Amino acid sequence: GSLSLDIPASFTLHAREEVGSTNDEVRLLAETGAQDRTVVWALRQSAGRGRQGRTWVSPEGNLYFSLLLRPEVAIAEAANLSFVAALALADAIKKINPEITPSLKWPNDVLVSSKKISGVLLESKSTASGALDFLIMGIGVNIRTYPGDARYPATSLLEQGGCDNLSPGDLLSAFLNSFDPWYKVWKKDGFMAIRSAWLDQAHGIGKTIYVRLPHQTLSGRFVTIDKDGALDLELDSGEQCLVTAGDVFFAS
Ligand code: BTN
Repeated sequence: GSLSLDIPASFTLHAREEVGSTNDEVRLLAETGAQDRTVVWALRQSAGRGRQGRTWVSPEGNLYFSLLLRPEVAIAEAANLSFVAALALADAIKKINPEITPSLKWPNDVLVSSKKISGVLLESKSTASGALDFLIMGIGVNIRTYPGDARYPATSLLEQGGCDNLSPGDLLSAFLNSFDPWYKVWKKDGFMAIRSAWLDQAHGIGKTIYVRLPHQTLSGRFVTIDKDGALDLELDSGEQCLVTAGDVFFAS
């Protein structure tokens, strides 16, 4: 049936029909000792969450899942796992439909035809001593629907074509198969080992972009990302600026 998937043996999958948020379900499992690479997948979410406190509308038909990770790295380093997620998802989409060429929007969205097709919500918990306890990587992918009123233009795999019969389970299975090798490389050799693969698919490199910060919007040329994943921006004034968090927009 659709709930038994072909996934690597290193993952433990919990499939649900409906939950509030898969991130919250994984957090409960993590608190009771669940292992690295435990996954909660749901067909629907009644309280899906996006970045920066936004709502992630989650009707049946799309993919919603969260992955529990317990890498032995510092919290600051763990933040660049969102690049691992984006790389794995881009690979999964290309495997499913080689005619689709995804691009990656800093820091962690995947775009198709310059429109947002997925989002990643990373949440972490630290130990009493300040080390990383666990990390929750929540991923939503628009397979059939997307909100019409999103802040950033959105699309779905269905709209992009060639994915008419794609089920959320097929995409989850493709993702987990792609994720495993990227995760291993990242754990072994660090962010620099995956950086160029991300840059190769980066959206807007060399172009003028806008970065919305809480109190201002920066505009400048997107030069590269640094060794930790920070966005390297050459401001219109010529000054160089490293951005670690913000919402990127492109000139149209
Ligand atoms: C974004 O704002 O771009 C991130 C969206 C993340 C949505 C996913 S769906 C599965 C997981 N559960 C949630 O409540 N959110 C994430």
